[in-house]
Amino acid sequence: MNDIPELSLQNVRIANPEHVTEVIQNMIRDGQNKLQVVADFDRTLSKYTHRGQICSTCHNVLEEGHVLPEFYKDEARALRDHYFPIEMNPKLTIEEKIPVMVEWWTKAHDLLSKCHITKDDVRIMVENSTARLRDGCTWFFDQLQATDIPLLIFSAGIGDVIIEVIKHQATLHDNMKVVSNYLEYDDQGKMTGFQDEMIHVYNKNEGAIHDSDYFQKLEHRNNVILMGDSLGDLHMADGAVGVQNKLKIGFLNVKVEESLELYMKKYDIVILEDETLNVVNAILRKVL
Ligand code: C5P
Repeated sequence: MNDIPELSLQNVRIANPEHVTEVIQNMIRDGQNKLQVVADFDRTLSKYTHRGQICSTCHNVLEEGHVLPEFYKDEARALRDHYFPIEMNPKLTIEEKIPVMVEWWTKAHDLLSKCHITKDDVRIMVENSTARLRDGCTWFFDQLQATDIPLLIFSAGIGDVIIEVIKHQATLHDNMKVVSNYLEYDDQGKMTGFQDEMIHVYNKNEGAIHDSDYFQKLEHRNNVILMGDSLGDLHMADGAVGVQNKLKIGFLNVKVEESLELYMKKYDIVILEDETLNVVNAILRKVL
């Protein structure tokens, strides 16, 4: 770990340094051909704050600017005010939270479906939004592409928004797969609803990607870097086959004091209130 000074920073917490050292050493030994990366999007690849201002999540993007009507913004904000504290409440179990999250996503998706936005609307909203990729994200994407390492972005946000954010602020490479909630459009290009099963923060262990052959095809890549900001994100790579070394990196952006102990139990490395991917990139630099 001494070789990676970023791991000793004040805002980087590691419960078991010996374990982290061993996993990183194994990843360095095995090299790029054995590695795959699975990352959440909102507040993991994207920032929680940018120069002190809170940034938009995928859903927040739709509430900025003048594209969507006021009734949408008011109702979407009211839903978040009610449900977000429940999502982040460390005193509730995941089992207790799941039905409440399904209720939130269902109401939010129904609300958006009433507005019949177009693909162009999504692009315009993203371009004018405060959603920001973390500093270092472009290097991270480009480096994974250059070394042919698959990156699965697994998000309970909105796929169409994620794709636009990445295209606008970095490059969407062909080694990247974005699994998320995608909008469905009619023949006139107006949104009518959502495709496939809903992905919310706590069902990332189920559904499309785990049932597909995505992880089967990567079974020779036994080393996984997993990046998330929620406890639900810990399950994003549950479908991965033959995993030998998994490094779980958690970004703790809110309720730091209350959640730190739990995050340190669940994530190998916990990064507090950071706007960058510096720690992840420092590890990658050693492995690649
Ligand atoms: O990418 P990720 O899986 O983290 O995206 C989900 C995030 O989007 C959640 O953390 C949740 O707080 C947020 N969200 C929102 N508005 C909704 C639904 C989810 O801001 N209607």
